[in-house]
Amino acid sequence: MSEGKVVLVGAGPGAPDLITLRGVEALRHADVVLYDRLTHPALLEHAPIDAERIYCGRAPGAPGDDRQESIHDLMVRHARAGRVVVRLKGGDPFVFGRGGEELQALIAQGIEVEVIPGITAGISVPAALGIPVTHRGLARGVTFVSGHGGETDWSALARSGTTLVIYMGLRNLERIVSALKSAGMSPQTPACVIENGTLRSQRQVLATLGTLSAAGFEGPAIIVVGEVVRLARIALQEKKAA
Ligand SMILES: C[S@@+](CC[C@H](N)C(=O)[O-])C[C@H]1O[C@@H](n2cnc3c(N)ncnc32)[C@H](O)[C@@H]1O
Repeated sequence: MSEGKVVLVGAGPGAPDLITLRGVEALRHADVVLYDRLTHPALLEHAPIDAERIYCGRAPGAPGDDRQESIHDLMVRHARAGRVVVRLKGGDPFVFGRGGEELQALIAQGIEVEVIPGITAGISVPAALGIPVTHRGLARGVTFVSGHGGETDWSALARSGTTLVIYMGLRNLERIVSALKSAGMSPQTPACVIENGTLRSQRQVLATLGTLSAAGFEGPAIIVVGEVVRLARIALQEKKAA
């Protein structure tokens, strides 16, 4: 029997038409699809009707190491049985998605792997609201950072002069805001939280570091801190005026 392979596919940030054409093509040829919590259910319709669909999601904050091991085993087992396995992951597989670990594990087992990038939430979700993460005269760089866990040096980031794009920070919002302010970042700095970006259920709060709150938000959310957030206000005001 010939060996199968694994394709790590980025599903994009939310809306099902924000996957790449190459990602759709991979789904069309899948024998097995392993998909995550944040991948849109409509994407599974691209796979052949008889392809096996296996849910591999986990609730935010739930322990993940054992689960990650079992995903590696599952991919290896199916590929060794000669199947084409699509591992469908939210956004881009290599941005806070453990795609790098999966790639390494598959290579270590001698499995053929292909990587198809996706549009990461940290760029596309602000963009959908008119916020460019870099902008001439406002931000010469951008830092993508996890708001989950406690190892981030927020005071170094506060001094970085880059736009801060924070993934997985909703539960720690108060702590993050207070760390940035303690590090000397002005409370007037524009900031926003965008929940369920690019989906119909998208909601956002546009504020400043001093007033930012996301009461009632529970979905996946991106926090953006920096002068570029002003541009969303402009985009929204123009939409209202039209
Ligand atoms: C485990 S990370 C995966 C990121 C993904 N690999 C990517 O490139 O976008 C999940 C986090 O991404 C962000 N996220 C993903 N989809 C989002 C969306 N539609 N709207 C807002 N934030 C989103 C949230 O911060 C969420 O907690």
